Amino acid sequence: MKISVIGCGYLGAVHAACMADFGHDVVGVDVDPAKVDKLAAGIPSFHEPGLEPLLRQGVEKGSLRFTTDKTSLAGARVHFIAVGTPQRGGSYAADMSYIWSAVDDIIGNATPHADGPLVVVGKSTVPVGTAAAIAERLEEAGVDAVVVWNPEFLREGHAVQDTERPDRVVYGLPDDRERGEVGRSVVDEVYAPIIEAGTPRLLVNYPTAELVKVAANSFLATKISFINSMAELCDVSGADVSRLAEAIGHDDRIGSKFLQAGIGFGGGCLPKDIRAFMARAGELGVDQSLTFLREVDSINMRRRDHAVELATQMAGGRLVGLKVAVLGLTFKPDSDDVRDSPALDIAGRLWGRGANVVATDPAGADAVRGLRPDLHIVDSADEALAGADLVMLLTAWKDYVELDPTAARSLVATPRIIDGRNVLDPRAWADAGWDYRGMGRRSGA
Ligand code: UGA
Repeated sequence: MKISVIGCGYLGAVHAACMADFGHDVVGVDVDPAKVDKLAAGIPSFHEPGLEPLLRQGVEKGSLRFTTDKTSLAGARVHFIAVGTPQRGGSYAADMSYIWSAVDDIIGNATPHADGPLVVVGKSTVPVGTAAAIAERLEEAGVDAVVVWNPEFLREGHAVQDTERPDRVVYGLPDDRERGEVGRSVVDEVYAPIIEAGTPRLLVNYPTAELVKVAANSFLATKISFINSMAELCDVSGADVSRLAEAIGHDDRIGSKFLQAGIGFGGGCLPKDIRAFMARAGELGVDQSLTFLREVDSINMRRRDHAVELATQMAGGRLVGLKVAVLGLTFKPDSDDVRDSPALDIAGRLWGRGANVVATDPAGADAVRGLRPDLHIVDSADEALAGADLVMLLTAWKDYVELDPTAARSLVATPRIIDGRNVLDPRAWADAGWDYRGMGRRSGA
């Protein structure tokens, strides 16, 4: 099937490559010529395991194109909207301008299709009420299109697998049953390999589909902040949050995932999604329903303060002139994304307190060099560790998790480490002579 994907950022580029892999004829349209040029050459514009071979294969076969030319939208039966909805400056709400310009591009370039109405599939994370508003705008413009809201649950670092083998798909369909049936059958055809694999598929109305996405991210954020609040309790009571998480996680009603305490969540999704959700609840007059998310957000931000305070305390009260080795800058491992990264924020705050920060990251270094030229970035953990007075592990990259405490000790000036992700073995580090501090963990326990 001939399809377009509007917006070739993280979500759109992966989606376009996976849809071409499913056998469709795909054009990805984006306003950024630099991004488009790279993608058109089969090169991802961000780090994502498994994406490059798919892009190359699609581009070489000719079934995957990327362009800035919006007239390329003509002829497609299905248009996927995959543009960003970042936090709007000065407020919690989502900036919807890219969504509306994508809709205008569809209106300006849509061509009627012999097989029936066009299908516009929304994948971006949006405030509840958006799908209906898009359907209305298309109708007013005289475009015969069925809107389907199909939220995306992919995780960075697992994006290809999450797109091609999702654990569920959700279609938000119009109330008109006949048009809903057209939308369902066309999207089923696009996702044939997913449907044939027996993936659970939920057919719901627009607002449910829109809410499913933000509800899922809010739940995940709440789980993380819950365990981080337990870490605060562990710190003052001598308990160990990793053992506590393990013990409660054995109950399947709780589950063991997303209970990793540490410096908290970041990235382009969870923080801005919970804020936009609160803003939307306020607009709908039910802000009280989500006041707990304010607490989730503030527990999360407190983790960063705590890490900086712990560093200051371990340094004897002053960071000025102290050499701090920061391991990891991205918001999580296997990603080069530093958007709202707790690690980068902490590194910047240590620098602000006068520390001589020497940071490293396997994939995020280039992005940070552009954003924070004041931070000293080096190419390897060994370089960062050399002569350090304090080490802070802030992103759980495998290379850092597997560091040998004895070898690392021989490089630093003072063996003090803060394990901001609770991924090291406290006893092994203590046995190798380190002053080890986790986040809500007992040292050397
Ligand atoms: C998140 C959701 O997990 C995806 O399902 C969703 O599709 C995506 O947002 C989105 O809305 O697009 P992602 O931002 O890639 O995916 O990252 P996560 O794996 O959820 O991690 C988010 C943050 O939470 C990271 O900073 C991570 O280090 C932190 N985290 C995660 C913890 O601090 N503790 C945990 O136990 C788990």
